[in-house]
Amino acid sequence: MTTAPSPKDPAPPAVTPLLIATDVRTAFHTARGPVQAVDGVSLTLGEGETLGIVGESGSGKSVLGRTLMGLITDGPGTSVSGSVLLGGTDVHALTPAGRRALWGTEVAMVFQDPMTSLNPVKKVGTHLSESVRLHLGLSRAEARERAVGLLRQVGIPEPSRRADQYPHELSGGMRQRVVIAMALACGPRLLIADEPTTALDVTVQKQILDLLRSLSEELRMATVLISHDLSTVAGRTDRVAVMYAGRLVEYADTAAVFDRPRHPYSSALIASIPRLDLPPHTLLPAIEGSPPDLLHPPPGCRFAPRCGRATDRCVTQAPRLAGRAGDRDTGVVACHHPLGADEEATA
Ligand SMILES: Nc1ncnc2c1ncn2[C@@H]1O[C@H](COP(=O)(O)OP(=O)(O)O)[C@@H](O)[C@H]1O
Ligand SMILES: [Mg+2]
Repeated sequence: MTTAPSPKDPAPPAVTPLLIATDVRTAFHTARGPVQAVDGVSLTLGEGETLGIVGESGSGKSVLGRTLMGLITDGPGTSVSGSVLLGGTDVHALTPAGRRALWGTEVAMVFQDPMTSLNPVKKVGTHLSESVRLHLGLSRAEARERAVGLLRQVGIPEPSRRADQYPHELSGGMRQRVVIAMALACGPRLLIADEPTTALDVTVQKQILDLLRSLSEELRMATVLISHDLSTVAGRTDRVAVMYAGRLVEYADTAAVFDRPRHPYSSALIASIPRLDLPPHTLLPAIEGSPPDLLHPPPGCRFAPRCGRATDRCVTQAPRLAGRAGDRDTGVVACHHPLGADEEATA
């Protein structure tokens, strides 16, 4: 029998997060030397939470996403260290078969270009029904019904007719909806969407991002949304991780990062987002310079060569991620001279 908790009862134990990534490092051994694409990233994500991972192209977002999935593992040509716990299971300690068993049911991924995930000679419905027959053991008729239901769930009109079409008969936006339906097919607890809208028109981009948001709410599915564009994650994720040259530089509630960015790089990314309240053709401040070569990264803060606040210390000493004492909600930042610190010191 269960009884309602009395006010004197202690708080329920904290729920174990769905995803715990600790000090994840991924390097590729190339002919020119090691490329440290992901360099000590730690993240946690609770059930049903949404996280945005943002940063310029080449900052390690896709490599991180694939390492979290266990698509990139330690092996010839690649070093992976740290740990990724998904629902308590260490993804990188599993056998290849063990990892495959997680894909679709625990974690699924949506990639940038829908055509890479779709077989042009297979009907739309078959993509979905094959996967649910395999993983969920449904009959042919049940699988067909589930496939049509999934297409309806991702907002595809006339799902029964669409199920009998081939991928090329659908628009880019509809194809990406099919790929999202494939990712949802076996009810994963975590969805990783890597630049899911980059190949699409602007209006379609918004529809797909809104669809992902509403699906993650409706299905209580944790979602990682990867984008080079910070405005993509605004209002659509609970938290945001800003990456620069393989490292996290800021990790906090999304609204807090937009209102009060603390890392100069986050602040520069926000300043470069086009705004409707500015007159048309206003020049936006671009971030001067380019990210470092990951074969020869600078020894201190990797953003220092492009940062207006950098001092000698930034050039020689890499800053660690740290929060403001006693205030968990402001998140963490890796900067020797974070924005807002001056005001804090004088407050
Ligand atoms: N298979 C690979 N071999 C060597 N370097 C790679 C490989 N995949 C990615 N990289 C490098 O890792 C870095 C991060 O890449 P990526 O994660 O794709 O960046 P992002 O997704 O943020 O644009 C880049 O410098 C890229 O060139
Ligand atoms: Mg990428």
